Amino acid sequence: MPPLTYRPSRDDAADRSAFVTLERTGFGTTDEDTERWMAAIGPEEIRFVDAGDVTAAMGSWIEIGHTVGGRTIPAGGITAVSVGHAHRGGGIGRYLLSQMLAEAGQRGWPLVSLYASTFAFYRKVGFEIAGWSHRYKAPTAALTIPRHPDDGALRPVPIATPPFSVAPPDPALIARLAPLHAGGSGQRPGLAAAAGRFLWWRRLQAMGRGLDGVVFDGPDGAEAYCMVDCRAAAQTIGVAGWAATTARGLRAVARWLAGFRSSYDWVTWPDAPHSPLTLLLPDRGCEVENVEPVLYRVVDPAALLARRGYGAGTGGAVAIALEDADLPDNSGRYGIRVAHGEATTGARLAADESADLPQVVVGPRGFVALVTGATSAGTLALTGLLDGTPEAIAAAEGLFAGPLPGTPDRW
Ligand SMILES: CC(C)(COP(=O)(O)OP(=O)(O)OC[C@H]1O[C@@H](n2cnc3c(N)ncnc32)[C@H](O)[C@@H]1OP(=O)(O)O)[C@@H](O)C(=O)NCCC(=O)NCCS
Repeated sequence: MPPLTYRPSRDDAADRSAFVTLERTGFGTTDEDTERWMAAIGPEEIRFVDAGDVTAAMGSWIEIGHTVGGRTIPAGGITAVSVGHAHRGGGIGRYLLSQMLAEAGQRGWPLVSLYASTFAFYRKVGFEIAGWSHRYKAPTAALTIPRHPDDGALRPVPIATPPFSVAPPDPALIARLAPLHAGGSGQRPGLAAAAGRFLWWRRLQAMGRGLDGVVFDGPDGAEAYCMVDCRAAAQTIGVAGWAATTARGLRAVARWLAGFRSSYDWVTWPDAPHSPLTLLLPDRGCEVENVEPVLYRVVDPAALLARRGYGAGTGGAVAIALEDADLPDNSGRYGIRVAHGEATTGARLAADESADLPQVVVGPRGFVALVTGATSAGTLALTGLLDGTPEAIAAAEGLFAGPLPGTPDRW
């Protein structure tokens, strides 16, 4: 095979054409939508792999930050990974991922995350499921909920965005809505609490269609917003971006969606597992139309353990022995001690240090599933992704317990 080179896009005609071809043969995307994708990602975040003088593969970065234990961990979101059809099966995809992981380390991202078309390819380099994105579906009328005396305090302000174009969403609007995506008080793990241009495009605009929505302003600023695609599917209002940080904001979103019930039978919305909107439905609840797992890969284990939060009142201690063949510098023992929800964590232990700590042994897949709280230590032990004594498994379960992580955002 000719020598492989990983490089940023030059944003010239040849690279733009390579992106269109790789997107078409990877995902069947129309050339027109690919132009929009490229604009949303931004040429500076597009990477190519050249095999000799032929452009053979691509991948792209999006800026994102995930909530882990109530704190936001900066991450590199990966999207638009495609190896040219003539070059598949020869290790180029693996080379691309290894280069992207190295770049993530240089950029100071403890995590990278993605939605996978094939788990096997990503698991081979240490990715594992670390959250879920659900698409819920309910009869629109089911969102008709009773008024609460507090609800009059919110003022609905309509917003509309133009069809997805090369013009980015309005920065002033993004600044108003951004705090809503941190999830409010309490833990909503996995949310994309920080987001760059690409995710805002997804939340506020649609491919080739304008979106319509509303911001619910309270006395101290926005408490909720919701953008919908009125042409999502037959008889269906499709929610794009939305978030609420107060109970009255959540009720306002539900009631606003119910206002479409005379002409739309169904509403669909994206959310993490345990969408708060589902708890408002008075009668039959809703169905989950689609579930997409989100995969993460830990790039810097010490930084993740030190920067993530721990549940208030959590206490305990455990050592995690990590064996990471793809990022061998990460292999080692990490000691975590948490008292009253505050951690002295993440430190890499010397071989003989803290030998008294109960210890679990994981590879990168077990590590990320454990420390994000996506899968409990006991369940990981059942799958062979974690090894440890019952005492160590119980300690790890206590430290990393929390609601199931997930996000409404997709990239
Ligand atoms: C998925 C894709 C990127 C893989 O690229 P590739 O260059 O063929 O992959 P590699 O040759 O580097 O394979 C690396 C490993 O993953 C495995 N693998 C690759 N594709 C796989 C698949 N679809 N299913 C199962 N395993 C797969 C390989 O067998 C190899 O395993 P090994 O190291 O044990 O030999 C490529 O097939 C592609 O571009 N597909 C279309 C677009 C797409 O699905 N992109 C991913 C979007 S999330």
